[in-house]
Order: sequence, then C-alpha cells, then structure tokens
Amino acid sequence: MVKIALIGAAGQIGTPLSLLCKTSDLFDEISLYDLVHVPGIATDLNHIDTRAKVTGYLAEDSGLQKALTGADVVVITAGIARKPGMTRDDLFQTNASIIRDIFTEIAATCPSAMCCVVTNPVNSTLPIAAEALKKAGAFEPTRLFGVTTLDVVRASTFAAHAIGIGSNPKDFKVPVIGGHSGATILPLYSQAQPPVSLSDEVLAGVINRVQFGGDEIVKSKQGAGSATTCMAYAGFRFIQAILKAQNGEPVTEEAYVYLPGISDGKKIAAELGVDYFAVKIELGKTGANKALPIGKISDNETKLLSVAIEELQKNIATALTFMSS
Ligand code: LMR
Repeated sequence: MVKIALIGAAGQIGTPLSLLCKTSDLFDEISLYDLVHVPGIATDLNHIDTRAKVTGYLAEDSGLQKALTGADVVVITAGIARKPGMTRDDLFQTNASIIRDIFTEIAATCPSAMCCVVTNPVNSTLPIAAEALKKAGAFEPTRLFGVTTLDVVRASTFAAHAIGIGSNPKDFKVPVIGGHSGATILPLYSQAQPPVSLSDEVLAGVINRVQFGGDEIVKSKQGAGSATTCMAYAGFRFIQAILKAQNGEPVTEEAYVYLPGISDGKKIAAELGVDYFAVKIELGKTGANKALPIGKISDNETKLLSVAIEELQKNIATALTFMSS
C-alpha cells in the first residue's frame, strides 16, 4: 500500500501533479488537500482507469489531518505564487505560516513520511519545515526535501536549446547545486555529461536562463502566475525517484536538504558555511542515504558559488528568525 498526500492540490501545480500521480499507477491511495475544490477534483480523477483511490479533503472536519493519515509521501505545493515584479522572497510573508502549520500537522500525523516541499521561497520554506518538525520532536533530515528538480530539468533543456537542432535535452545531465531562486541556483556545466561545448558568452546566457527561468515564465504569463506544468513534471520526477529508491533501485537526484543531518553532508556544510543547500543526494529505502561531494568546479562556478552562499545564508536566516519569533 503506497499513499501520497498532495497538499495544495487545487492549485495550478497541485492539480497537474495529481493527474501525473493518478495516471502513473504508482499509488494505491492519493489524498488531495486544499481549501477549495478538491472533492470535485478527486471525483474527476477517480474516472481514470488506474488503481489509486483519490479522496479530496477540505479544511473542515480536520481535513488536513485526514489527508495526511497513513501517508508515505507528502508533497506540499500550497501557498501563493508569484506575479510579475515579485521575487520568490516576496511570497515569504504569506507562505511561511502556511508551511509552519502544515508541518506542525505532519509532525503529529505522519512523522515518518517522505516530505517534499515545492512551495516558494523553497530556500526559506524548507528551514521553516525543519524547525516546525524540530519543535514537535519529529525532525528526520533524511526524509525532508526541498524540490529543486525543475532547475535540473531547465539546465539540460536550455543547454540543448543553445546547442540547437538535433540536440535532445534528455541526453544531457547537468548537476545543479545551491538553492532555488535566482543567483542561488548554480548549474555546473563544467560537470555536464556529455560535455557541453558552448562559447563563454553563450554559456553565460544559458546559466543566467537557468537561474532566472522562473522569471521567464512569470513574465510570459502576464499576471496569471508562475511555473505550473513544468513544476508538476519536475515534482513528479522527484516523487518517482523517491519511490524507485524505496523499491531498492539506486537513484541520485539533486535536492535542497539540511546537510548536517545527512551522511557525508556535515563536511560539505562546514566547507560551504551553510546548512541548507542542494547537492546530489543518493536516495535509498529510508530517504537520503548520503550527500555527494560537489566535486571539481570551474573558476567561474567558484565565483557564482560564493554569491549563491551569501544569498542563501540570508534566506535561511529569515526563516529561522520567523520560527524563533
Ligand atoms: C520556478 O522556478 O519556476 C518556480 O519556482 C516558480 C517561480 O516563482 O519562479
């Protein structure tokens, strides 16, 4: 029996993500939670001929608790999204308390679940989630992930776009480390497999596009929000990785995690001077088995890394201040 709970399922990421989960046939039970619409979305999804039983829960009658009960995996997409002119940090005021309250309930109801945070600003919402779990005595760093898979997806896609006709994004593997906003996102093209051969100028443009890919969508949607379908795709890819690892298949994926709580992560955190950071993670049956070292990076990437760390430290401090107040 595998149960997934999608928190924020009536939103523009949550709904396509629920469709991907239902069509995947990976689940026996899917629970949808949101403030509106989810009973109807569940009925709609239940007409699809896969085995998962979908149930929608609203806030009344302890809906969040019911949605989380027995969940093996929880994905949180709840909260508001960006509008033009906003940064992800502008979402903090609204989304911080939403994440705190959801994780307080997770700690009480399904403390052993694998939890994946999509809600922005991920650089800050993940530390908030960790602090809420800590306060309830339920923090297990190996089971808490900030989803940065969209940055990895963009890094291969935009490299293929720059190379041009005939190149397939799926052929490129580009590690992406750091955080999930602007300059904190650091694609490591020096480690791309196969190597990506672009001029310095074109490569700089590709790196910038990965870092600010979210803004490209916000601008293009002209006030109708931010990334939804590609984020649902990326979130689902991360969920699949977690489930594969639980079934004994070795998987590595980047994720934003609390490094000191993960095997081999303490050393990386000490070297970087930051506790929350996205690196390649070896996933296993019980979540994050090991944080993999960053490895050799180019001089330009070294410069970008120090900018990323400086910004991340601020994002993390904002979260910790919020949780201590
Ligand atoms: C993205 O990377 O597209 C998402 O985090 C949404 C956003 O606000 O940019």
